[in-house]
Amino acid sequence: MLHHPSPTPFQLAVTVNGKLVEREVVTHLRLMDFLRDDLGLTGTKEVCGEGECGACTIIMDGQTVNSCLILAVEAQGREILTIEGLADMDALTQLQKAFEDHHAVQCGYCIPGMVLIGEKLLERTPQPTRAEIKYELSGNICRCTGYHKIVDAIENATDKHA
Ligand code: FES
Ligand code: FES
Repeated sequence: MLHHPSPTPFQLAVTVNGKLVEREVVTHLRLMDFLRDDLGLTGTKEVCGEGECGACTIIMDGQTVNSCLILAVEAQGREILTIEGLADMDALTQLQKAFEDHHAVQCGYCIPGMVLIGEKLLERTPQPTRAEIKYELSGNICRCTGYHKIVDAIENATDKHA
C-alpha cells in the first residue's frame, strides 16, 4: 500500500490589498486557492486552472500574473493586489466606471481579470490604441461580450486618466 507523505506546512507572510497576512499553508496550495478559500477574496475567478483564460489574474509586485499557475509559497514576502483591493465600492476607479458606462459586463466572470489588465495597461500607456488594448487582453478570454465593449471601456477610460 502506498503511503503519501503528509503535506508540508509553510509559514506564509504576504501583503494582500495593503494588509500583511500571515497563515500556515501547505506547500502545494495554489495562490488562487489561498486568495479565494483562505482569504475569501472570490473576485479572483477560476475557469481553466491552467493559465489559458486570465480569469484568475491578480497583480503581484506590480506585474499581472495568473494566480492559478503560482503556488501560495511563491508569494512569500510579496505584495498582491486583487480586484477587491483596487477601489472602495463608493469610489470605483475611472476604468471600473467606464466598464459600467459601456455595459462591458455580462456574466462578469472574466471582468476582474480584464479590469486589472486594463489598469496596468493604462498605468504604462495612458492613451493606448485599440490595437494595444486588444494585444494586452489577448490572454484573457470572455465568453459573453464579444470584447468590443470591453475595449471601448478601456479606450474611453483613457480620456479620464489623462
Ligand atoms: S483560471 Fe488561471 S488562467 Fe484560467
Ligand atoms: S462577461 Fe461573461 S465571460 Fe466575460
